[in-house]
Amino acid sequence: MTRPEHQSAPASHTMARYQDTVGADNYAAKYERSWTRRRTGRREDAIVSAMLGTLDPTASVLNAPCGAGRFVDLMQVGKRRRVRFADFSPAMLSATARTLATAGASVEIRQLDLVRDEPADVFDVVMTIRLLHHLSDEAERGRVLDFVTSSARQAVVLTFASKGTVKGWIRSMRTRLGLRHGGENLRPEAEIRDALRARGFRVVQRRKVSALFSTQVYLLATREVPMPAAGASSASG
Ligand SMILES: C[S@@+](CC[C@H](N)C(=O)[O-])C[C@H]1O[C@@H](n2cnc3c(N)ncnc32)[C@H](O)[C@@H]1O
Repeated sequence: MTRPEHQSAPASHTMARYQDTVGADNYAAKYERSWTRRRTGRREDAIVSAMLGTLDPTASVLNAPCGAGRFVDLMQVGKRRRVRFADFSPAMLSATARTLATAGASVEIRQLDLVRDEPADVFDVVMTIRLLHHLSDEAERGRVLDFVTSSARQAVVLTFASKGTVKGWIRSMRTRLGLRHGGENLRPEAEIRDALRARGFRVVQRRKVSALFSTQVYLLATREVPMPAAGASSASG
């Protein structure tokens, strides 16, 4: 599960806060920590459940990055041909292993770098939740989208931080006025849709996490352009 020494240094894109046990445990408890966080967690569970609910219930799923393994309870893992949870951080993968053990779910766990690794397997559905907004480098976001779309036979479920949300608009204004530095990377929704279209996917569902209090937007995009033959034959789910 852990990389050889020469590959284990976090890449520039990889957020330090998720790399150690304290950070991973912190993230594992994030959606339980307050009433508002619990509400956000429940809302995201409902969105993911609804989006997966429109797809084949037996579809194989890659959930990457999986963080501490949330969503496992709603994924109906037992019905699926195959489920893999993957993340760059070994500490996060340990947290995931605990979550999966509590859920009694039989799921593959792998270390994976969505920026640096080459896609090796194909899944029906790929979920990439709460990663893109951490990446300020356009080329890195492009590599993540390349990985995700070339690993997905049917659909992708992903999130990004939208400039077009109320909170995103306020944050953009604060940045422009020099009142905010750094933080999440806000993108125009058209840019993400165009990037998906350029990779053969069309957005068929869109859900905001909150009308006022979150920048995160979930998109479900389905494949319009058939997978190249070599990819299609590399895995049966
Ligand atoms: C905000 S967490 C989201 C986790 C999960 N999707 C969720 O919503 O609970 C971001 C995760 O991305 C992982 N990560 C960061 N860079 C990565 C990369 N290049 N490849 C794979 N995972 C990465 C981190 O280790 C962390 O677990």
